[in-house]
Amino acid sequence: MQEIKVELTKHPKAKPTDETKLGFGSVFTDHMFIMNYDEGQGWHDPRIVPYGPIELDPSAMCLHYGQTVFEGMKAYRTKDGRILLFRPEKNMARLNVSNERLCIPKIDEAFALTCIEKLVAIDKDWIPTAEGASLYIRPFIFATDAHVGVHPGKHLMFMVICSPSGAYYPEGLDPVKIYVESSYVRAVRGGMGYAKTGGNYAASLKAQDEAEEQNYTQVLWLDGVERKYVEEVGTMNVFFVIGDEIVTPALQGSILPGITRMSAIEILKSWGLKVSERPIEIQEIYEAYQKGQLKEAFGTGTAAVISPIGQLKWGDHVMEINNGKIGEISQRLYDTLTGIQWGTIEDTMHWTVEVK
Ligand code: COI
Repeated sequence: MQEIKVELTKHPKAKPTDETKLGFGSVFTDHMFIMNYDEGQGWHDPRIVPYGPIELDPSAMCLHYGQTVFEGMKAYRTKDGRILLFRPEKNMARLNVSNERLCIPKIDEAFALTCIEKLVAIDKDWIPTAEGASLYIRPFIFATDAHVGVHPGKHLMFMVICSPSGAYYPEGLDPVKIYVESSYVRAVRGGMGYAKTGGNYAASLKAQDEAEEQNYTQVLWLDGVERKYVEEVGTMNVFFVIGDEIVTPALQGSILPGITRMSAIEILKSWGLKVSERPIEIQEIYEAYQKGQLKEAFGTGTAAVISPIGQLKWGDHVMEINNGKIGEISQRLYDTLTGIQWGTIEDTMHWTVEVK
């Protein structure tokens, strides 16, 4: 295993004084991880250094053609002071799936996880203890070649930064209002929808902006070909409780394979509930709503955790779900998932990994 060099900061920053007001992703810890890739040399020079700006050539390829991938994970502080990660090996595996799609050389998943654990251990005093707050971990890779021709980079950087964060949505566990997007599309099959890459999020900005102007928190994407099938919400996967079936769109290449999505499915099935991963038309959801069968809707994501959806607007149709309140299944799922993550519920699935 390569040695991870550590240079500790000589100027530790002041930590946030009020952890209930952290918001999401705007405060960063004292250190960051960096590793370089150069063709012929592979990934090399893993190091933890003081957090700060990095130098890039103005022609760096990532700035022009978006050869970037990223992940989102969290470190949780338990009441008895332990530090837990949630299924981190799944994030590393997904990072390599994204790498493959973006022509980025694969990383050694186990080694990358060791590096992340070391960074979290060094910055452990930054992990918030306030309820619902955690340390959001953002691994990312980008091409740095100084060259404006379009081709896969031969020089890249893998970095990890950490941000003590609260809820992603200001609404917290209050249901969010979602706008069903019928004009813009996020991804199509054969595109990059299943990869966690900046371009997918760039594609979402305009629709997101317009939805916010109309007072909606995020958009629900429909498929890029027929604008008929439900795909995912901006930063989360989506589930609908229709009658006694819980439905989530099947992964067909244009949807991000969420780790919270996967965990939610496993938890719901362990309760004996019927969960279907299948194509689902927005028309079906509307018809279920009209018949009084659309009982709950919620999103899942690392940042968003479980976010109940209280309203869906599709064209002229406004669907008020569960009177705009969190539903029973959403609440139970939230309690179970966060209970496992914060170590208050026994982790019978063996999903958490302790950082020592
Ligand atoms: C996450 O849930 O970790 C995400 O990556 C969503 C992010 C774009 C905020």
